[in-house]
Amino acid sequence: MEEINKTEPHNSEFYTAAAKYWDRVPPTVDGMLGGFGFLSQTDVKGSTHFLNKLFELKNPPSKTFALDCGAGIGRITKNLLIKHFKRVDLVEQNPKFLETAKTYLNTCISRIGEFYPTGLQNFCPTPQKYDVIWCQWVLGHLRDDDLIQFFKNCVLGLTKNGVLVVKENVTRSNTLEIDTTDSSVTRPYEDLLSIFEKAGLVCLTENLQHNMPRALYPVYMFALRSKSQLAETSNNG
Ligand SMILES: C[S@@+](CC[C@H](N)C(=O)[O-])C[C@H]1O[C@@H](n2cnc3c(N)ncnc32)[C@H](O)[C@@H]1O
Repeated sequence: MEEINKTEPHNSEFYTAAAKYWDRVPPTVDGMLGGFGFLSQTDVKGSTHFLNKLFELKNPPSKTFALDCGAGIGRITKNLLIKHFKRVDLVEQNPKFLETAKTYLNTCISRIGEFYPTGLQNFCPTPQKYDVIWCQWVLGHLRDDDLIQFFKNCVLGLTKNGVLVVKENVTRSNTLEIDTTDSSVTRPYEDLLSIFEKAGLVCLTENLQHNMPRALYPVYMFALRSKSQLAETSNNG
């Protein structure tokens, strides 16, 4: 217990402080990226490359339904997911961002399904709905035990060949780094791997995001499936 609770002992405070922080952030691409809006294209390019790699897997995910987690105003949905999937749902705890998403996504709004206005720590995707669940630059807002549970919930929300994608900052040090401004943590690479393991996830492939400024954290993309999914696919050849 000691270990999984290390991100934050006072859990509700951790979540309310983050919600308050995001409430003060403008609903723009620059706001979503903490003033680094100019990196959005680079980010999307790296994600597109990674997603295409997933479509080349032996048992690739279908291209029907994706879920954008911690979606903000829908930057990733608009620039990445809707270009590859027939439909996309968004989950985001800030209602102002979701309202903006409805206009920001106006060119593809007929292919947007649900806007779930909730924190990921309280969210369970509809079972077996999603081919890809994309989580980016949000998981540092979840405590370790909530993150493990969220991943377990995501597994239930995946289709047979579905993939969970995690794209997050990782520390250069071996220690957890706490940001009290936005109430988040940045985890070391090894901590993320250990959380995946505890959630019963196996990493299929990973990439480091290229062309990010040295002054920022390294950004990793992981494609994950559950051990039970893998057992099923190997049983079916
Ligand atoms: C750094 S922004 C990234 C937004 C989007 N993923 C992107 O890359 O453009 C972080 C987002 O996570 C949302 N967020 C923070 N804590 C959350 C939580 N517990 N559950 C769901 N969303 C959360 C914020 O409201 C904000 O929209």
